[in-house]
Amino acid sequence: MSKEIIDKILISHEDIVNKTNELARRINDDYRNEETPIMVCVLKGAVMFFADLVQHIDIDVAIDFIAISSYGNTTRSSGEVKMVKDLSCCVEGRNIIIVEDIIDSGYTMHYLMNSLNIRGAKSVKLCSLLSKPSRRVVPVEIDYLGFEIPDEFAIGYGLDFDERYRNLKDICVLRLED
Ligand code: HPA
Ligand code: MG
Repeated sequence: MSKEIIDKILISHEDIVNKTNELARRINDDYRNEETPIMVCVLKGAVMFFADLVQHIDIDVAIDFIAISSYGNTTRSSGEVKMVKDLSCCVEGRNIIIVEDIIDSGYTMHYLMNSLNIRGAKSVKLCSLLSKPSRRVVPVEIDYLGFEIPDEFAIGYGLDFDERYRNLKDICVLRLED
């Protein structure tokens, strides 16, 4: 079995807080004169980011949760996507803001944005805390992006390895050693 080493802090909690405030300000400005958006938290990875982000939203919003799983092993995602928990709100005619932890290959987000558009959403925008552009397989437009990161395995602040490390305050790099 390989050993898991928390290698270094990639993004400090303080930097996350500052960036989250900035993204919330942009969302407030962009939606102030629009119909009430639904902010959708993609479980489970985005849960910390979502909870902090929505507390800085000062316009009228609805919130909802969705869970999607991509098949494949833990650190690499395949193209297959499955809806594990669907939204409870009806999206037809609504402005949707998806809140995600990380955009990697882009498969999951491509699938989700497509399915919300097919269901008749008025608009679908994406807010992601992290992006790994070097891993992209399908193009994804990120309207509100926190940080671009290199192709290293990120854990903490909601991001997991095998369901662990989500509770760390900072985003760190996980290294596996034999
Ligand atoms: N960390 C956690 N989950 C992920 C990552 C990552 O770096 N990339 C895709 N899913
Ligand atoms: Mg995720």
